[in-house]
Amino acid sequence: MNTKSIITGTGHFVPPKVVTNFDLEKMINTTDEWIRQRSGIVERHYVESGVGSSDLGYEAALRAIENAKINKSEIDFIIAATLSPDHYFPGIGVLIQAKLDLSGIGALDVRNQCTGFIYALSVADQYIRTHTYKKILVVAAEVQTSNLDYSDDGRDIAVLFGDGGAAVILEPNDKDDGRGVLSTHLFSDGNFASDLWMEKPSPKDNPTFRKEYIDEKKYYPYMNGRNVFKNASEKMPEAVKIALEENGLTIEDVDHLIPHQANDRISLMVAKILRIPVEKVIRNIDRMGNTTAASIPIALDESLKSGRIKEGDTVVLTAFGSGYTWGSAVIKF
Ligand code: UT7
Repeated sequence: MNTKSIITGTGHFVPPKVVTNFDLEKMINTTDEWIRQRSGIVERHYVESGVGSSDLGYEAALRAIENAKINKSEIDFIIAATLSPDHYFPGIGVLIQAKLDLSGIGALDVRNQCTGFIYALSVADQYIRTHTYKKILVVAAEVQTSNLDYSDDGRDIAVLFGDGGAAVILEPNDKDDGRGVLSTHLFSDGNFASDLWMEKPSPKDNPTFRKEYIDEKKYYPYMNGRNVFKNASEKMPEAVKIALEENGLTIEDVDHLIPHQANDRISLMVAKILRIPVEKVIRNIDRMGNTTAASIPIALDESLKSGRIKEGDTVVLTAFGSGYTWGSAVIKF
């Protein structure tokens, strides 16, 4: 029997402050109507000043540990995904490890943006399959709202993003019952890095951080929205089709699809291309906005806790984002 890894616990934490489109109307030259029509977003969560992605990740981790009914001391490895670390370095993996009081165990950071959770899950899955670790905390968390351009220059991006964290515990499934992570597929194309990035700092800069770049807004995220939209709509279905084929499944076998929550129009486009009924597509972007690496595990946790995802269900995850990076995972619950 090949050991599969299985998700034994999930948790998420979003900061309590809710920012509606109407709140944004007071901060940005935008309208509730524009945001809803273009993205499907109604509200998102914002951190208070002083809260970092490691704080959100820590809170999410505690909930996943409780849900998995394990003692935190049993965790033997951490993988953390974020594009918005507390510090330029080190990453948030070690910071979450310290907050959990788990000194000594390895903590790996994954920098794959919106696809970060699928990349992290894939790495964790390999470690479990090879019996390297027995209980891995995979955590994804983002604090993005403290570094958005709320002027007209950045309003296309600023209205989309929210803050949040989510975590899962991955363990070996010792039973031969077919449950667990069936596959992960990872892709990237760095030729399109500049379509969605923070341009500065760059290797050309000496010293690395320069005041004029603050004035020129080079430390804000930049996005070629139309290119990203087009590629996201194409690459996510491609990644799902490859995964289904490898597992000998058809789209009819899929009980739930969780696409990265980047834009509800993208999720609906992905559903249309895959010919999957929209009722099977999990969508929470209306309440969360785009929480980048955290978006899929937040939706997963909500769906498990609400009973929407049940034991025996086949769930497909897919993401696309900065890099470009994209991928898919198939999980039997
Ligand atoms: O998670 C990572 C992956 N990210 C994504 O997948 C996001 C992908 N891209 C998108 O979702 C869409 O491109 C956006 C939602 C970002 C933008 O939608 P769009 O339909 O591509 O709009 P646009 O950028 O072409 O802008 C259309 C108009 C422009 O005005 P003009 O030139 O037509 O007069 C913009 O200036 O909308 C204007 N606009 C806004 N108006 C009100 C841009 N942002 C806003 C805003 N409020 N926030």
